[in-house]
Amino acid sequence: MQSALEELIEVMQKEGFAGSMAIDEEVIGFSWGYKVPEENTTRVDFVAIRKQLELAKFDPEKAFYGADLGVKLLYRQQGLGTMLLANIGMHGYDAGVFRTKNPAMLRLMRKTYGQEALSFPEESAYKDGRVYVFKVEL
Ligand SMILES: CC(C)(COP(=O)(O)OP(=O)(O)OC[C@H]1O[C@@H](n2cnc3c(N)ncnc32)[C@H](O)[C@@H]1OP(=O)(O)O)[C@@H](O)C(=O)NCCC(=O)NCCS
Repeated sequence: MQSALEELIEVMQKEGFAGSMAIDEEVIGFSWGYKVPEENTTRVDFVAIRKQLELAKFDPEKAFYGADLGVKLLYRQQGLGTMLLANIGMHGYDAGVFRTKNPAMLRLMRKTYGQEALSFPEESAYKDGRVYVFKVEL
């Protein structure tokens, strides 16, 4: 299994990589993502995601994939996740794309971006995974 550091090094190579980190002597939270790629990865069916975006009249070239958001247990429920998500930096994108099955994550996304424009199942990495697409206000 890939460590968080190995994953970060891998995703940092991706086109449009952007992220933010919260530090309190050590890393206590992080959030990162990249432009929706053309090819599938081992964990995400981006080809299917691009098709759904096109059907909903979003330009996949202007879609950002929010790959990860995490806050250390002791620091949760204090607004840090919301701050990290807001600081991810989606400038120049029309859509924010996230996959989750976590109700806290969904609540946080809706608080930040409003109601999703569309959502659909995406279970290539885990059961009950669902992709949510939000219109990003410029
Ligand atoms: C999801 C996560 C990042 C939220 O971080 P956080 O710092 O607690 O988020 P915030 O404090 O900004 O809370 C955001 C909202 O989610 C709600 N929330 C947080 N944890 C919740 C929980 N366990 N159940 C329900 N709602 C929850 C909060 O109530 C808050 O809404 P409110 O302000 O309207 O009350 C954090 O729980 C986490 O790291 N989870 C594990 C990793 C994960 O699943 N990440 C998502 C991967 S897709």
